[in-house]
Amino acid sequence: MSITKAVPLPEGELAKKEERIPEPCIVVIFGASGDLTKRKLLPALYHLEQSGLLPKDFTVVGVARRDLSTTFAPDMQDGIIKGGGVEENDPKLKPFMDRVQYFATEFDDDNGYEKLKAYLADLDTKFNTKGNRLFYLAVAPEFFADIIQRLGNHGMAKPEEGAAHWIRVIIEKPFGTDLASARKLNDEVNAVLSEDQIFRIDHYLGKETVQNILVFRFGNGIFEPVWNRNYIDHVEITAAESIGIEGRGPFYEKAGAVRDVLQNHVMEVLSFVAMEPPDSFQAEAVRTEKLKVWQAIEGIPIENAVRGQYGPGTVDGKPAIGYRREERVSAESNTETFAAVRLEIENWRWAGVPFYLRAGKRLEQRVTEVTIVFKQPPLHLFKSNRSDDKIEPNVITMRIQPDEGISLRFGAKVPGPTTNVRQVDMHFSYAAAFGKSSANGYERLLLDAMLGDATLFAHRDGVEATWALFTPILEAWAAKVATGFPNYAAGSKGPDCADELLAKDGRAWRKL
Ligand code: BG6
Repeated sequence: MSITKAVPLPEGELAKKEERIPEPCIVVIFGASGDLTKRKLLPALYHLEQSGLLPKDFTVVGVARRDLSTTFAPDMQDGIIKGGGVEENDPKLKPFMDRVQYFATEFDDDNGYEKLKAYLADLDTKFNTKGNRLFYLAVAPEFFADIIQRLGNHGMAKPEEGAAHWIRVIIEKPFGTDLASARKLNDEVNAVLSEDQIFRIDHYLGKETVQNILVFRFGNGIFEPVWNRNYIDHVEITAAESIGIEGRGPFYEKAGAVRDVLQNHVMEVLSFVAMEPPDSFQAEAVRTEKLKVWQAIEGIPIENAVRGQYGPGTVDGKPAIGYRREERVSAESNTETFAAVRLEIENWRWAGVPFYLRAGKRLEQRVTEVTIVFKQPPLHLFKSNRSDDKIEPNVITMRIQPDEGISLRFGAKVPGPTTNVRQVDMHFSYAAAFGKSSANGYERLLLDAMLGDATLFAHRDGVEATWALFTPILEAWAAKVATGFPNYAAGSKGPDCADELLAKDGRAWRKL
């Protein structure tokens, strides 16, 4: 069953309705030669330009070590066209590209910072950007603290005394690698910047479908009354990817599935699924409620955490190598490419409801979704048409990607002279209702940071709370070499231990 109503937004409606145009500013991207800038950040900025959401007085400066002065802009244009789904002859493209600049410096060269400071001041004059700066640290995590420190030393981290301009810094993930390093990084960053200048980004919070979890829950009257332990049996959150590590061996060897996805993206989604309604949709109110969710998890016992690593297999009909054969990965690697945990949120709403989270690479399918499985009706009045006569529970599935949408599964009478029940799905599809979007999640977050709205960014306490949950697991795993790695084939549904985690509770994962 499919019920979707197409209500496309008229052209330009977004800009008109929101009236959220930031003040003039320069976006300065450190680490601009990396993939993120080309594939995500520049396309996102261009999508904002297309929607009329960028200020008229605006410019972007890519900063990196290599001299890319002649190739940077064409390369970014290529990224906008290919990664952003933009037509080559789009009328706004040329004028936008005229505002894309490049500046080469080593990140530890003090002289380079002085020159950058003067360069940005010149751009202020040329583009009328009024001294407003949004620094974006798209660099390897080991550079975060040092760059911020040097921005501070060279008078670039704080607005001038009495001046009206603003300076903000977006810091990419991973924010730390465990609780101690996240605390240290927070201290280092907070020594230079005030908390309201810091925007710790998690691009999942920029995804429409993740934000829609809150709208679904709190913008409708019918779901919230059943969104609790009285009606919900358990919750699953899955972040499955069919891709492997995409040439990022050295990074992934140190990261693994917990640090890369579970501790951040999946925990952010969890907080939206489980939080209490905030007093308002302001940063402080939302962050407070999210933090309460994480703090109500009283640890994850090590026996409720399982790990996996892919071996060779077949993905999308093509042979795929095992993780240990990937480029720049140790042949004896102990790094997990799959992780799953069972946890409970010890508060009034959720006590006794298990949450099962899993994330992994090289799985059968790419699917990120939240599954809410409801309790059964108290009495079994009807027969199921299944051979085991089992009536399946109601399920709400929030599909974050791909095929973004929401479905509700319920029982319906199978036509015929007997009263048999079969499960059917009522489905809402984002694409059918609102048209296909080329947004990648960074649009909203870049816009919010330019506007100074930190609602969809991580806060110091939140980052530390999620690290506090996963650090004991990571330490236990580091101390004990995983026996049986690789334990799932590339292109499969993941390791058996993940199934066993739910089987212990008499449950099973939703099929990928
Ligand atoms: C990134 C991880 O943060 O998120 C990647 O480093 C992962 O390993 C990616 O592939 C997933 O993001 P998305 O938007 O493709 O689900």
